[in-house]
Amino acid sequence: MEHNRKIKKNVLLIGFMGAGKTSVGRKLSWKLRIPVEDTDKLIEQKAGKSISEIFATEGEEAFRRMETEELQEICSRSYSRILSVGGGTPVREENRKLLKKCGTVVYLRVKPETVWERLKEDTTRPLLNCEDPLAKIKELMAARKEAYESCADVILDVDEMSVDDCASSLAQWLEENA
Ligand code: S3P
Repeated sequence: MEHNRKIKKNVLLIGFMGAGKTSVGRKLSWKLRIPVEDTDKLIEQKAGKSISEIFATEGEEAFRRMETEELQEICSRSYSRILSVGGGTPVREENRKLLKKCGTVVYLRVKPETVWERLKEDTTRPLLNCEDPLAKIKELMAARKEAYESCADVILDVDEMSVDDCASSLAQWLEENA
């Protein structure tokens, strides 16, 4: 793949679970011709178990530590690539600083009802494994709103957009601005 030389910085995709960070990241990688990585996948590979197993056996705090370590590692070596991070990554101030330092932060913003529609059959999000997942989505999203918005360089409202639409408008914005 010929590397796109117009994009000089990393592109960090943030947003709530189900916003489409992973799928948009892959599509964007293809459109911009720069590599893509996903912190959740890297953590799973390193730990040799799924995120759900990490939450169940080591707890959320341990997962959050792995998330920060992974981000530190990637940001120290990567350049001009796309990185999608877990929905909870921007919650820690330390991570927000890392994200901002690491490149252009793109926030894929989504409504709670859209997340619920997309994830109601999903069993891979331990935080939504509870009695009232929609209420949990609303609660977490309200608590995270400020964190997401404060570190974003650009915000895209994705509820009505397909993965391809998101990737196309981001590719154009990034080629002109990043
Ligand atoms: C989480 C989001 C998940 C994953 C973990 C915790 C969160 O990633 O990191 O289940 O706290 O919002 P996705 O946003 O890719 O689903």
